[in-house]
Parts: sequence; C-alpha cells; structure tokens
Amino acid sequence: MWFSVNKKIILSFKMEASNKTIYLGCDHGGYDLKETIKQYLLDKKYKVEDVGSYSADRVDYPDYAAKVCEGVQKDSTNNLGLVVCGSGIGISIAANKFKGIRCANCNDVYSALMSRKKDDSNVLSLGCRVIGEESAKLITDAFLETKFEGDREAFNKRQEKIKEIEEKYLKA
Ligand code: RB5
Repeated sequence: MWFSVNKKIILSFKMEASNKTIYLGCDHGGYDLKETIKQYLLDKKYKVEDVGSYSADRVDYPDYAAKVCEGVQKDSTNNLGLVVCGSGIGISIAANKFKGIRCANCNDVYSALMSRKKDDSNVLSLGCRVIGEESAKLITDAFLETKFEGDREAFNKRQEKIKEIEEKYLKA
C-alpha cells in the first residue's frame, strides 16, 4: 500500500497475476534496465511479451517502439507497453507516432501516477541512463497499478480531443 505525502493518493499494489499483457521493448541504451524490469514483472506474475532488443548491440529505437505499440494496439483495453532507451526520450517520441498510443516518459513516481490517472497513458518510457533500477521498479509499479479516472468529465474531454487530433492528422 502506498500513500502520497498529502495522503490524497492511495495506491494498492496488487501482487497477484494480471490478465493484461505488458509489451516490453528497448534499444541498446535501455537493454540492461529492460532485462531488470522484465524479471521484476515475471516475478510478480505479470504476462510479459519481450519484443527485443535481446542484447546490448546497437539498434535503432524506433524499430522497438513499433513492436511494442503494435502489441498494445492488438488489445488496447487490456495491454500496456513499457519502452526503455538511454534517456527514455527517443523511444517515447517514436511510440507517440502510433495511433491510440499515449506514451509517457516518466522518470519519477508522481509522473507515472499522473500519466495514468489523468492522461490514460498506455505506454511507459524509462531512461536507463537517468534512473536507477529501484526507482524504475517503483515507477513501473505506479504505472501498472494506477487506473485512469475515466469518470472525470474534464479528463475524458481531453482524451476525446486527442483522438480528434489523431483522426485529423494520423493516416493509419
Ligand atoms: C542510444 O545511444 C541513445 O541515443 C538512445 O538510447 C536514446 O537515449 C535516445 O533518445
């Protein structure tokens, strides 16, 4: 159980299995952290799909952002994604080019919480060269166990406006 400093945010981290699939992807800059988080999630009995990269050899992060986003798009109600590169920035920019993907680059717990609660993020991006492993685990917990407050009219209206932008400017 988690409490924020002002006691307004209460998060209970469920340890049991979840029916959603978490798609994981990274480039060489994010490989070590992706491996750490993969094991962390498997230990917690999450269903994980690792789409690579599978070594620290140089690769291009857009290729792995694409694989993760395609996985999330398969079942956008249940599936979530987690992408890692050196800074967390490049791979999040690539992920946000995909329809229906709301990727948040969060290197702290508060941002991860808010990205879910208010913005309905469905892909988390982490910077392997920015944060340590233990912070990354807490951020991941916050992202996976926080729900979008879809009953808040203002939050929904903003999501609708983002969808309108997608319809107008994104082709596929
Ligand atoms: C790779 O060296 C690095 O540029 C990449 O992982 C990422 O940080 C880009 O945003």
